[in-house]
Amino acid sequence: MLERTLVLLKPDAVQRGLIGNILSRFEQKGLRIVGLKLRRFDLKLIEEHYSVHKERPFYPKLVKFMTSGPVVAVALEGKDAIEVLRKLIGKTNSRQAEPGTIRGDLGMSFSNNLVHGSDGPESAAKELKLFFAGAGELVDWTPATLEWVYSVEEELA
Ligand code: RTP
Ligand code: MG
Repeated sequence: MLERTLVLLKPDAVQRGLIGNILSRFEQKGLRIVGLKLRRFDLKLIEEHYSVHKERPFYPKLVKFMTSGPVVAVALEGKDAIEVLRKLIGKTNSRQAEPGTIRGDLGMSFSNNLVHGSDGPESAAKELKLFFAGAGELVDWTPATLEWVYSVEEELA
């Protein structure tokens, strides 16, 4: 089944000039970009986004970091996109993330770890609504490469 998931390129990724590098990994993998925006998101939205961590000691620093500069929000679509994306991102601590993953290749930090990816179907649905609330912000389209990226009969039946 095709799924959609939310990715955020965090302020460190934007400041370090890594937007292109990271987006191109999604394209090369075969994940379809169906929403894309760069904003300095307001405190309320970021607090809501990370509300599961509200009671955790790192929450205030996390919210401050995520509102410290522009963030790129990306909606991706693909078969099993949520799990595929979490694998592409790698472990939370970039120093422990495997080479080949975004955090493993590009980062050294636990907190400044470049990207966020939804961790399950419920959070993906909630987060996509939060960051792409407006009408027409998510776009349905069919990539010309679809039948080469997938065995359509097997995987998208
Ligand atoms: P994310 O939600 O951003 O995709 O990251 P994640 O699932 O890999 O990690 P999660 O446990 O959800 O933590 C959210 C973000 O909070 C920061 N963090 N700092 N200093 C700490 O102990 C600590 N723990 C988490 C990280 O930026 C992490 O990505
Ligand atoms: Mg998380």
